[in-house]
Amino acid sequence: MPRSEAQKNVRFGKVAVNGKNCRDGGQQVVVGRDVVLFRGQVVRPTGHLLIMLHKPAGVITSTSDGGGPTVMSCIPDELNRKDLAPIGRLDKDTTGLLLLTTDGGLTHALTHPRRHVEKAYLATLSQPLPAEAVQRFAAGVELADGTLCAPALLEILSESQARVVLREGKYHQVKRMVAACGSSVTALHRERIGDLWLDPALQPGMARAVSLEELALLGLAWPGTDGAELAETTGESAEDDGVGDGLPQ
Ligand code: URA
Repeated sequence: MPRSEAQKNVRFGKVAVNGKNCRDGGQQVVVGRDVVLFRGQVVRPTGHLLIMLHKPAGVITSTSDGGGPTVMSCIPDELNRKDLAPIGRLDKDTTGLLLLTTDGGLTHALTHPRRHVEKAYLATLSQPLPAEAVQRFAAGVELADGTLCAPALLEILSESQARVVLREGKYHQVKRMVAACGSSVTALHRERIGDLWLDPALQPGMARAVSLEELALLGLAWPGTDGAELAETTGESAEDDGVGDGLPQ
């Protein structure tokens, strides 16, 4: 709809923001926070979306719900679009930061092995890790099946907690690295991707749009590689934690 027509519709009182009639064409709205109605119908943002979800335990990182509830069930109606998909994957029992986007170019950029985008996890351990595990992580852990991992950071926080920072994304990687060092993970939470931390205000199961300022923390320029714009009214091959490879979660 041309801007002039949109302004006219606002002036004629056909638009409501958060349940209140809006006649101010200059009113700012935030995608994912404000609900905009036009003639009583929810207006969905155009342009690409990037969404931050605090993934709860028990939902699958998938767009189709063959095996139970998926992360898509956590996305509010006004942000949910057919082309929205998770960037990479967290296991069903893993909680924390999960990004979803409509931009395939952005997904590719963030999951491409050569980008080495950092991901930080807080792991709860069944038993203490030996101090030497720190050096093993730094050198590159060899998994039980002989797979060699890239160097990673292990910070032993206590007998039952460790922080792991990876720059790659293999299947069940944190759990398998910890197992290779003689412990096991009883709970896993992703805290950060690049320099973008999970918003502490987001309770498990809550999602919101990522701002342009936050996008910069991912170390990527927008537009993504397909050249489209982020919907915001204010201010080699993909890694094997990618979606849709048919592996159990
Ligand atoms: N590593 C794992 O083992 N599981 C996840 O969900 C993410 C990283």
